Amino acid sequence: MINNIVINIEGLTKTYDKFTAVDEISFTVNEGEVFALLGPNGAGKTTTVEIIECLKTPDKGKVEIFGIDLKDKKKQNDVKRKIGVMPQNFNAFDWLTVKENLDYFRDLYSSKISTDELINLVGLGEKMNSMYKTLSGGTKQRVGIAISLINEPELLFLDEPTAGLDPKARRETWNLIRKLKEQGKTIFLTTHYMEEAQELSDRILIIIEGKIVAGGSPNELIENYGGNKSVILKNCNKKILEDRGIKYEAGIENQIQIIFDNNEQLFNILSAVTDDPNVEIEIKKPNLDEAFLNLTGRRINAEGLAK
Ligand SMILES: Nc1ncnc2c1ncn2[C@@H]1O[C@H](COP(=O)(O)OP(=O)(O)OP(=O)(O)O)[C@@H](O)[C@H]1O
Ligand SMILES: [Mg+2]
Repeated sequence: MINNIVINIEGLTKTYDKFTAVDEISFTVNEGEVFALLGPNGAGKTTTVEIIECLKTPDKGKVEIFGIDLKDKKKQNDVKRKIGVMPQNFNAFDWLTVKENLDYFRDLYSSKISTDELINLVGLGEKMNSMYKTLSGGTKQRVGIAISLINEPELLFLDEPTAGLDPKARRETWNLIRKLKEQGKTIFLTTHYMEEAQELSDRILIIIEGKIVAGGSPNELIENYGGNKSVILKNCNKKILEDRGIKYEAGIENQIQIIFDNNEQLFNILSAVTDDPNVEIEIKKPNLDEAFLNLTGRRINAEGLAK
């Protein structure tokens, strides 16, 4: 089956005064997929999504959503009606309850979906009558997702939907995003969390300083850039390895690293040290973190800063 392209971006560029925030980027998003724009603070993620959401005008490049070229300002309204948007740092009315907030936005959009349906969809039943101000970060984000679903969009933009959430709340949001994908929605996500991009996305585009660094499915990125599989051994007698002809690299703190390709090699390494109870064993598999490091020479910390 040929993929239906819902977003087509060619040579997109956006400058703020003389600063180029998005620099000649091109990509497509297919119908029904979760697509993640992954990058550190200031990479140009929000600028890119806000252009696609018809909120900002690019300096250069082509942006087509559902086959509609956004240069045609009159047709932008057709696009806006079909998309849902949860902005970065979303906020609703502090002194209204969840239900009152949703009722308000539903009225604005003449929404066909009922408030109860929305509340069930995003799992806010227990919090329906709680004041928005009193909600946890994860629950507030759920209200944001509920509001973005009010016009029953085919395409949903979630700009850093789990930033600042604790691991439990983050996983709950991931489950909600998976549920929305199962309903057939196309989801465009921005994130600086490697794990989030890896867990949720069908395809990932890595951007840094406004430029594309690499793109592909999580597995493709890990296979191509994620490095080698290796065993890390601590407190190991090197002679045992040498006797068996196992090549190793010595590291700091009495650690050694042995790269392997297949299970047979792994078994050979482990059987060499199995009789020594002092040896600590760690098996490292390639992951997106390593791929990102290999591609960019940097890691992203929890705050989204690249170091
Ligand atoms: N309105 C603006 N005027 C001037 N510079 C801007 C403006 N908006 C964004 N920038 C700059 O453009 C760059 C890209 O910003 P953008 O918000 O798109 O990045 P981001 O990847 O979403 O970052 P974050 O992870 O912090 O949300 C940053 O250096 C930012 O400071
Ligand atoms: Mg942003």
